[in-house]
Amino acid sequence: MFDVNQIRKDFPILDSQVYGKPLVYLDNSATTQKPLCVVEKLTDGYLHHNANVHRGVHFLSQDATDLHEGSRRRMQTFINAASSDEIIFTRGTTESINLVASSFGETFLQDGDEVIVSAMEHHSNIVPWQLFQQRRKIVLKVIPFNDLGELDMDVYAQLFTERTKLVSVTHVSNVLGTVNPVKEIIRIAHSHQVPVLVDGAQSTPHLKVDVQDLDADFLVFSGHKVYGPTGVGVLYGKRQWLEQMVPYQGGGEMIQSVSFEKTTFNELPYKFEAGTPDFISTVGLATAIDYVESIGLGEIAQYEQQLLDYATEQFQQIPGMRIFGQAHHKSAVLSFLVDGIHHYDMGLLLDKMGIAVRTGHHCAQPLMQSLGIEGTVRASFSFYNTMEEVDKLVAGVKRVCGMFGVK
Ligand code: ALA
Repeated sequence: MFDVNQIRKDFPILDSQVYGKPLVYLDNSATTQKPLCVVEKLTDGYLHHNANVHRGVHFLSQDATDLHEGSRRRMQTFINAASSDEIIFTRGTTESINLVASSFGETFLQDGDEVIVSAMEHHSNIVPWQLFQQRRKIVLKVIPFNDLGELDMDVYAQLFTERTKLVSVTHVSNVLGTVNPVKEIIRIAHSHQVPVLVDGAQSTPHLKVDVQDLDADFLVFSGHKVYGPTGVGVLYGKRQWLEQMVPYQGGGEMIQSVSFEKTTFNELPYKFEAGTPDFISTVGLATAIDYVESIGLGEIAQYEQQLLDYATEQFQQIPGMRIFGQAHHKSAVLSFLVDGIHHYDMGLLLDKMGIAVRTGHHCAQPLMQSLGIEGTVRASFSFYNTMEEVDKLVAGVKRVCGMFGVK
């Protein structure tokens, strides 16, 4: 049985007061709070299992290595990868995409080749490709979205040419909440023999993602958005691609042998993991995944949908309210503006009521340009939020409207 009051006990920070008011944390797309079990696992790692991995013959190093590699296998089961060798630990989604842009790009992209992204990408799925343009003159092609915030699949299907070498799209928009039809996106790309990278930063915390079912070539996500520690994330890649791709960074771990004349590289996944990995955080991330799956991603999706529907229904009754993102399949993100009120003012005033939302362009300036706005206010929900918190958000927004004379 899903019991939000019981769940909230696992997150001590949710009992905080800000400005003497109970915290209402609605910035979950930026980062999620951590359950006690994750924090305790990190402490336990530093207190009892701390030694460098893959290097020592001594007991503690072997212990730390076993825990770290166990976490890799946990990531494999989380996303249903065929092998744990296809799981690369990174610092997060951003580093994972930079790795693919650099290494896939270096190996497979030539001047004039094309990469397809969408108009709703986070900067982390735009800028790495632009940086790579300094190395090769690749062309970025962009899938537009409609008024509901859904990708135009007809235009997408027309974007392919014989120069298309990769599609790189977000699974869930961090601004609009749109859940993109990535399985169909992949099917179409594969019919042109083009691989697909799925940015799972905003999907993995909310829905079950199965890379084999999707047939994704790459999937990236961040630990801190799935209730895990900061500074750790995952790049999943199909072995056929990872094996051919050149390494990203050089250093320890990623080599088999080094001399001044020649270096040979380690096997997967270590070829892409230069330097000491964050082996304490990878274990914390595995604990977070255990926690999330103990609640159940199906239950999480269902409950968050109820929060979203309840909030949307009430928001629609507020005069001057504009909601951005009305996709048929939507995750629990509510981006909005009230006519005559700057998003920044709305965010600051809500904050004074204890309500944490994000304001601005949300690292998606091209998306804002498509909408013809500078930014939005964004409330993003988690399974630990309550209907009462939605009520507080709605009451807070109405109060701000009152202050600005918007009725
Ligand atoms: N990408 C995160 C967000 O959307 C930081 O807020």
